[in-house]
Amino acid sequence: MKAVVCTKYGPPEVLHLTEMAKPVPKANEVLIKVHATTVTVGDTRMRSFTVPRGQWLGARLYLGIRKPKRTILGMELAGEIEAIGQDVTRFRPGEAVFASTFEVGFGGYAEYKCLPEDGLLAIKPANLSFGEAAAAVGGGMTALRCLQRGRIQPGQKVLVYGASGAVGTNAVQIASRHLGAEVTGVCSTANLELVRSLGAVRVIDYTRDDFTGDGPIYDVVFDAVAKVAPSHAKKALKNTGVYLNVHKDSDAPAKVRGAALLAVKELIEAGKLRPVIDRVYSLDQIVEAHRYVDGGHKRGNVVITVGQADHENQETSS
Ligand SMILES: NC(=O)c1ccc[n+]([C@@H]2O[C@H](COP(=O)([O-])OP(=O)(O)OC[C@H]3O[C@@H](n4cnc5c(N)ncnc54)[C@H](OP(=O)(O)O)[C@@H]3O)[C@@H](O)[C@H]2O)c1
Repeated sequence: MKAVVCTKYGPPEVLHLTEMAKPVPKANEVLIKVHATTVTVGDTRMRSFTVPRGQWLGARLYLGIRKPKRTILGMELAGEIEAIGQDVTRFRPGEAVFASTFEVGFGGYAEYKCLPEDGLLAIKPANLSFGEAAAAVGGGMTALRCLQRGRIQPGQKVLVYGASGAVGTNAVQIASRHLGAEVTGVCSTANLELVRSLGAVRVIDYTRDDFTGDGPIYDVVFDAVAKVAPSHAKKALKNTGVYLNVHKDSDAPAKVRGAALLAVKELIEAGKLRPVIDRVYSLDQIVEAHRYVDGGHKRGNVVITVGQADHENQETSS
């Protein structure tokens, strides 16, 4: 099969397309023919080994001391089940699925991936293309898990900082259309209209205005890009308000993550949530895609089509 490998840490050019053996599912695994994956900021950080100083050793031990030990990046994917192991009962060959590879050492940048049937895997939302479905996984689950910690009530004022990123675009939609909050989105000038279209009743351009300027008026402030000092963000919170941070509030046990993926699927099928797609590249354009995401300004998600997915993406999107 074709796969993109990352055999050393560095700039996008360290990624290269290669041929390798197609994986064979174990008894409890499904073999997925991947149609789409994504480039997240997490993928680019693992490629370049860009981690906060205090996490250097832990991250190096996990990712590989001298070079990456998990050579195929790609945390999200969508595709079709081609084969199943003998003990698999939840899925059948031919079913379209979307999944996170976060718990199994990544691996979306390949034509095939094996996942345990009880992993972060679910039937693909019927109303999304494979590309959209791959992009729906991480940002949707992360935004949902963080916002759940805010115990948001309908009508409450919620501010989403970094509203144009993968997590932010999901958070604006979930907070407004699912939780019934009055959402203010903070983004740059070019993204004001996008964020408004996702359900924000108010938008603040961070390049011109400081969102704390109105004083402590929000019930929840969610920093979806972890770019604001917590002490500054808290100036916008009411006394009883809740501060949420994408890095500190997105952790959850596997069972909760599984439930979040199913909840994201339900929200998508109910028409309350749709991933925002910025650019689409093919697997052999992975270097270009990583260069773009390295820039730090993607709007929503960057999708990578794998194999013949372009045609299938169009057929299954509605
Ligand atoms: N995506 C996931 O699945 C996931 C999962 C868990 C954790 N996380 C973490 O969550 C954080 C956000 O991830 P993401 O995938 O949502 O990021 P992202 O999509 O790469 O974020 C890009 C967006 O951030 C905005 N941005 C950049 N600098 C900004 C600033 N100073 N103020 C406000 N907005 C700014 C950019 O808008 P402008 O161009 O307008 O500046 C752009 O639209 C990352 O630290 C990531 O590690 C992500």
